[in-house]
Amino acid sequence: MFALKNNGLSLNIAIVLAVLSPAVVLIQAFMLSSQQVPAAVSTGNDTVAERIRPVVTLDDILGPEGEQQMVSTVAEVKTPEALYQGACLACHAAGVANAPKLGDKAAWESRAALGIDALLQSSITGKGAMPPKGGSAYSDEEIRSVIEYMLAESGF
Ligand code: HEC
Repeated sequence: MFALKNNGLSLNIAIVLAVLSPAVVLIQAFMLSSQQVPAAVSTGNDTVAERIRPVVTLDDILGPEGEQQMVSTVAEVKTPEALYQGACLACHAAGVANAPKLGDKAAWESRAALGIDALLQSSITGKGAMPPKGGSAYSDEEIRSVIEYMLAESGF
């Protein structure tokens, strides 16, 4: 109030500045917004799909076939024969440590007589030189299917 009376010039300048500064800010803002938008946020030719694409996909790592293969491996249920080859053949093909050989009916005769449940049990816990489940990580159902396969291949 003191300045109002004693310094009219300063007041005028103050009023002019007060009116102009928002205008200057607006003009600057307008100039900034009309400048070119930086490349990173450009909407130019990129499609949205390209812009939100993951940096790395399974496809990049494995290729389309590899990905398919992995899916089918996960979904695949191994046949008893494949299971046999994977964990039992090592001993039961050649009769290692007196393992009853695949196809040797005489060697399987007395064992087959025990019945599938007893054979499953001894295979799960291990017997003689055979470690539990033949050293495999097969499920009980898988072990059972292999024993059935081995018995069938041996004539039972
Ligand atoms: C390290 C060698 C070895 C591997 C691997 C092995 N076996 Fe054996 N298996 C033996 C031997 C040795 C015997 C005979 C054990 C005995 O009667 O003393 C035997 C016996 C058996 C018997 C008869 C059991 C009984 O009660 O008479 C079955 C069934 C059998 N194996 C199934 C399997 C299956 C299924 C696998 C694969 C998951 C497997 N074995 C892997 C060595 C092996």
